[in-house]
Amino acid sequence: MIESLTIENLRGIKKLSISGLTNINIFVGKNGAGKSTILEAIFLASTFFNKEDTLRGKNKLDYIVKRRAGRGNWQNSRDILWYARNTSEDITIELRFRTGNSLKFKVPYAGEISLQIPSEEKATGKATWLKPDNYLDVARSLGLEKETVYLREVVFLDSRLSVYDIERRVWRYLLDKRLDKLVVDLVRDEYEPRTESITYKPGISGFVLSILLPHTSVEIDGLGDGARIAILYASILALVSDTGVLIEDPEVHQHPGGLLTLLKFTLKMAKERNLQLFITTHSLELVSIARELCNKYGLDVKVFYIERDHETGLVDVRTIDRVDLEVLEKMGLDPRLLHVL
Ligand SMILES: Nc1ncnc2c1ncn2[C@@H]1O[C@H](COP(=O)(O)OP(=O)(O)O)[C@@H](O)[C@H]1O
Ligand SMILES: [Mg+2]
Repeated sequence: MIESLTIENLRGIKKLSISGLTNINIFVGKNGAGKSTILEAIFLASTFFNKEDTLRGKNKLDYIVKRRAGRGNWQNSRDILWYARNTSEDITIELRFRTGNSLKFKVPYAGEISLQIPSEEKATGKATWLKPDNYLDVARSLGLEKETVYLREVVFLDSRLSVYDIERRVWRYLLDKRLDKLVVDLVRDEYEPRTESITYKPGISGFVLSILLPHTSVEIDGLGDGARIAILYASILALVSDTGVLIEDPEVHQHPGGLLTLLKFTLKMAKERNLQLFITTHSLELVSIARELCNKYGLDVKVFYIERDHETGLVDVRTIDRVDLEVLEKMGLDPRLLHVL
């Protein structure tokens, strides 16, 4: 589990440090505060151990650029990632794990992401930077097995995931373990109570994942956005373990009941599969539901208020505890508006 992180020179962030990260981490703050960039930073660091985004069948670096630069890719558009497009400064991401190991990555504009050997700098006063080619040997010799597994498996759940990604790259692994039943239960609970199963149906251009109802079937793509996204996220959450899951604004498209059901599922998986969650949100409902459920499931949860100085790119991070929230709510004030209060 990641306990603290520092990001420098990434997108709108000149510098940001967060400590005291826990099982379930919820990031709130204005648009443009840098919440999504925190998720991207962890995903970017993970490329050192695994370049391929197995969910999307793409290179992760290309995806990080493309998700906000339309058709761009790493080769032709990566300068958008450098703070104020100052590509002469390296992007750095430092992650300190609960194991006590700290991994510092640097991303130079030209060249590959590299990892600083922990403790080397202390011992010799000089940093040695490793390339990703032989990361397994490196990880073994440095005793970084846990951190390697964690970062190799990290997944990024955002609304750009498509049914096609799940059909081609996820569903068969669920079937192998019959974890599809978990997803069917979720669909039945909230979205389509008469669902009998989810299966592939021959379509015009290949097989498509569909819900079987008593008298008809509906393609997953033909469901409402809330149901579709819940199925995509749940399919992935049911498969991963011992890693971090990055979830961007999960409330989008969800009815409050859908949000509750999806959160329940997500937190249950987090508990059972040792997942550390990083969730960005604008939803107070999400914050209070997550607090309640975490309490019930015995998960630690923290809410971080992110505020970015647009002049300097320096980011201030404050934790909002339950008492703060309750006081603000009693006063009739919306804690999302902390910056103007
Ligand atoms: N290369 C860059 N240099 C400086 N600022 C940037 C750069 N790329 C994006 N930004 C700014 O960073 C912010 C993006 O933050 P983001 O992580 O999307 O925030 P949030 O998810 O909290 O809404 C935006 O305000 C954007 O203008
Ligand atoms: Mg965002």
